[in-house]
Amino acid sequence: MAWTAHSPSADQRKARGRDGKMRIGSFWPYSRALIPSAEIARRNPDVLDLDNHISFVQSLEAIGMDFVLIADGYAPASEANSRIGFQDPSTNAVILAVPLILATRHIGVISTLHTSFMHPVLIARLGAHLDWISGGRWGWNIVNGFRDHEARLFGLEGKMDHDGGYELAQEAVDVIKKIWENPQQGVLHEGKRFKVTGKIRRPVPDALPLLVSAAASKMGRAFAAANCDYLFTAAQTVDALKELSADLLQGAAVGGRAEIPQILMLSDILVRENPGEAQDLYAELRASADAEAEKTWKSHLAKIGTNRTAPGELMTFLGTAPEIADQIIDLHRQSGLTGLILRMPLWSAQEAMRLEPIFAQLEKAGIWVPPSRRAYCW
Ligand SMILES: Cc1cc2nc3c(=O)[nH]c(=O)nc-3n(C[C@H](O)[C@H](O)[C@H](O)COP(=O)(O)O)c2cc1C
Repeated sequence: MAWTAHSPSADQRKARGRDGKMRIGSFWPYSRALIPSAEIARRNPDVLDLDNHISFVQSLEAIGMDFVLIADGYAPASEANSRIGFQDPSTNAVILAVPLILATRHIGVISTLHTSFMHPVLIARLGAHLDWISGGRWGWNIVNGFRDHEARLFGLEGKMDHDGGYELAQEAVDVIKKIWENPQQGVLHEGKRFKVTGKIRRPVPDALPLLVSAAASKMGRAFAAANCDYLFTAAQTVDALKELSADLLQGAAVGGRAEIPQILMLSDILVRENPGEAQDLYAELRASADAEAEKTWKSHLAKIGTNRTAPGELMTFLGTAPEIADQIIDLHRQSGLTGLILRMPLWSAQEAMRLEPIFAQLEKAGIWVPPSRRAYCW
């Protein structure tokens, strides 16, 4: 089969979630379980069998999902986590993006890359290639890295430097944008952390790839407001979302930026046919968490910003497909939220297909348009 990427025009690339319609993504199952539970891992497909990723992404594309976001990390958090397959083994967000892109036509694929662990020239080159292979439907989730044991893995003096991490990320993004935007002239950059002279080999993106940043703190929000198309958040309430929107609006105004980043809110989703069934199953799955692994996980999540009253808890969409569609429509109308990243505690092609009627209902309500018709995933 000849492979041709769907290539959006520069104009199509500009919409980027700022047309008031929703964009709905899937949080990629980068490990067998996304909640630390041996029982959940047992019910899910093998994360190291590539066929499971291909069938999952193809089902997501078939039901109308706009994009997927692949989170990433480098070091296992604890023996208990590894024992139950939570975050270890786990897929790499750059490498896995390639088969997902090749198996699909229009779904967006966002990879997480850490500015603290990778040189900006390397990020620019990898990103340029993913943009080329995907025909412009690749995006970068910019993260600093926040876990101390990962800092140690990279020899970073045993601790992540939170504020310094944002300073470094800003310099890295400045360099990467210069590399991508000036393919002919190249870059002459001498900063506090990086010295970069010259240009990279082509291909170079003909429009800036989508930029997302996953953060919660004031500094993180300011970084998103200054640089990104989206802020990826785990905010848990409508009030927190409204506060975040106001911050992003203000942050963009301070930086004189016309494009205000939209919010992508992480939430859990579980669809079942009969009323009450999904709620019961979700409670059962949460109760199956491994106490030791959950303790480590929550101690890490507690480091993520200030707007999370309960680390590890997310907004949930539980119920039948029509019930969940109504919940999403209500949330959109109450908060103005236009972006969701849905985490499926049970993930498989069959689980993905359960979401299909939700998209049809959102379309009927006029708050979402299938990416295949919109001509561009963002
Ligand atoms: C929704 C969300 C997703 C995140 N995903 C990742 C990830 O995949 N890998 C990672 O190393 N950090 C991830 N982070 C951590 C952030 O990039 C950041 O390092 C952390 O939140 C600390 O910064 P803050 O105080 O500004 O929030 C995520 C954070 C949030 C809120």
